[in-house]
Amino acid sequence: MRALFICVASCLLVVNDGNIINRCTLAKILYEEDLDGFEGYSLPDWLCLAFVESQFNISKVNENADGSFDYGLFQINSRYWCNDFQSHSENFCHTNCQELLNPNLISSIHCAKRIVSGSGGMKNWVAWRLHCLGRPLSYWMTGCRLE
Ligand SMILES: *[C@@H]1O[C@H](CO)[C@@H](O)[C@H](O)[C@H]1NC(C)=O
Repeated sequence: MRALFICVASCLLVVNDGNIINRCTLAKILYEEDLDGFEGYSLPDWLCLAFVESQFNISKVNENADGSFDYGLFQINSRYWCNDFQSHSENFCHTNCQELLNPNLISSIHCAKRIVSGSGGMKNWVAWRLHCLGRPLSYWMTGCRLE
């Protein structure tokens, strides 16, 4: 019984290896990058956004019906924000889409800041508007320490 429990616990760790960022680790990174209150959005808004877009999977890539792709933690779209060298892109964030999959999250965070600074703010992400806007969100920070 005890051996089984240990196996279950360690197997879960292996499954999560690499792709899924821990919620509180992410909160700390977002805090250090000055996102708490950026353009009026709190850390729980950012955590909710990351969860509904990528389920905290920093290497998530998703193809859209129009042939563009969404990249990384915030599922940033290649048609407007980054260059994937596959289709025309406005490349407003002046970055290679692959950089939005970098585990250091720097490019994703910089690009997300640019998106949220535009008109519509976080409403640019449909999933945030549907699942996070106007809801109680403080529980996203439960158990997280920023210092
Ligand atoms: C994260 O996303 C990548 C790319 O879309 C996928 O291959 C991987 O299975 C995902 N990881 C998890 C744990 O869902």
